[in-house]
Amino acid sequence: MCGIVGYVGEEQAAPFLLNGLQKLEYRGYDSAGVAVYNGTGLHVVKSKGRLSVLDGILEGGRTLPGVVGIGHTRWATHGAPSDVNSHPQVSDGGKFAVVHNGIIENYLELKNHLLRRGVEFVSDTDTEVVAQMLEYYYRGDVLEAIGRVIQRVEGSYALGIICADCPEKVFAVRKDSPLIIGLGQGENFIASDIPAILSKTRDICRLRDKEIAVLEKDGVKFWGEDMEPLEKPVETVQWDVAAAEKGGYEHFMMKEICEQPEALRKTISPRIREGKIVLDDMKLTAEQIKQINKVFIVACGTSYHVGVVAKYAFEKLLKVPMEVDVASEFRYREPILDENTLVIIISQSGETADTLAALREAKKRGARVLSIVNVVGSTIANESDDVLYTWAGPEIAVASTKAYSTQLAVIYLVVLYMAQELGHTPAGEMAAYLEDLQRLPDLAAACLMDKETIQYFASKYFNARDMYFIGRNVDYAASLEASLKLKEISYIHSEAYTGGELKHGPISLLEDGTLVIAICTYGRLFDKMMSNVREVKARGAVVLGITTRDKEETLRQQTDYQFCIPKITDFMLPSLSIIPLQLFAYYVASMKGCDIDKPRNLAKSVTVE
Ligand code: AGP
Repeated sequence: MCGIVGYVGEEQAAPFLLNGLQKLEYRGYDSAGVAVYNGTGLHVVKSKGRLSVLDGILEGGRTLPGVVGIGHTRWATHGAPSDVNSHPQVSDGGKFAVVHNGIIENYLELKNHLLRRGVEFVSDTDTEVVAQMLEYYYRGDVLEAIGRVIQRVEGSYALGIICADCPEKVFAVRKDSPLIIGLGQGENFIASDIPAILSKTRDICRLRDKEIAVLEKDGVKFWGEDMEPLEKPVETVQWDVAAAEKGGYEHFMMKEICEQPEALRKTISPRIREGKIVLDDMKLTAEQIKQINKVFIVACGTSYHVGVVAKYAFEKLLKVPMEVDVASEFRYREPILDENTLVIIISQSGETADTLAALREAKKRGARVLSIVNVVGSTIANESDDVLYTWAGPEIAVASTKAYSTQLAVIYLVVLYMAQELGHTPAGEMAAYLEDLQRLPDLAAACLMDKETIQYFASKYFNARDMYFIGRNVDYAASLEASLKLKEISYIHSEAYTGGELKHGPISLLEDGTLVIAICTYGRLFDKMMSNVREVKARGAVVLGITTRDKEETLRQQTDYQFCIPKITDFMLPSLSIIPLQLFAYYVASMKGCDIDKPRNLAKSVTVE
């Protein structure tokens, strides 16, 4: 959600800024802009719409000379998408240009204060308040002005700042919104996410809340909230550049769907040794596991859907009460937690604002927090008692696919690890689960072999107005995710229901030719699902059934189209059944001509509430 880049060095800043912003396009945005110090003052160019519009105006950056600059892609929160509301925002006197991710919650109060003192505003944004405050508090020392501003603003921010009086510096500060500093040779960078700077450097420093960085071409200095100088550790990013490129695929989403077997292997293999699950990073002891009286899973969107699968696995194997909640609800209710409650936070980005707030709420109430995160060093990872990384590599497409698969894999590892430590599950049963978990990457690869069947099916239904997904138990959990995937990238209205709930209302939506996708992989309730399939067919629905290979013949007799997946332990079934449905969403969106990797109104990482 929004993207920040900044450059100071010897090369031209604008081409790098445009290139960096292009690498952040996946995060979602509706306007873009850059500010460069051009030898005489700050020169700002910004425009509503796609980055290509800005790139056209700047002729790839050639028309904006200068070696120090900041750039931004904006996803509107305060004020509509427009040229004037785009970032950078500039102070009244033209001294400061600011790019900002996050929300300044007390901006109105601050704005009124400045208006009363004669400061003139031009935009509707909360960000302009920061630019104006910087100039208002500036007495010749930018660092001091930043310090005074961050004492007064409330909310979340990652800020890139340049000042006309310091033409050789870029300033950066953050709170609750990610920002990294890239270290180069004779050049340094800021960015809200790693892909923006990966073509230049893999050496990065991460800013913690309210830490300030001052970048010059030959070095970066850091200050803490107390304005004392800081030493920051340097991390080396392990991904290669290719991991953040399309690598011959038309879209990141298809690339990431196809990467799932490999991603699963990386997540699972190192954590199973000599027939045992080994979670080196987990500090939770066997004694503490025995004391757990309740488990919560809290997350948003796709990560929440992982929690819905997890509930079935935890209850089956651990017999422990469990609740799954969306983070935006959990953070504002009064959950009953104590020191024996385990709260599992799931987040691909590790920066989702609601999920982070839920984590803090859980800790405040005394619970122990284990997080499952993809982005190493993210805020959620840093603030958790334990963190297990999914090791999926960068996920660029807004629609989450390999993050979902690898989050599920970590959930299976956690539940089996806890079962192993508790010692209640018979050895033979545990061995069978582990065997299936190790087969998962190959079975996922097998599900990807038959893309054509799904492509053909998509070609018949991509014009549908509505679609419904039904399932029971873990198949219901997979239905939720399949329905989200379809609606977010194809804009087709779709809902997921449990098979048993249909006759309590939703069945009235069906008419001749309505498409229903019935996930029927869960063996114990297969016959119940067949009854539901008959019910919807009797109302004129066309049904695509998804089941395991052993049930193929029965399914063929009951449904119009079929897709079969290999058989596996019940609670692992969603890892396989979701694959044809990710492909289905992809092909439908592609046939409709949708912007698959950057669907409208959505952002990859939702860092505001
Ligand atoms: C998934 O396709 C979505 N883009 C979205 O629901 C996402 O899963 C959600 O915003 C949570 O993100 P997180 O995992 O980074 O916290």
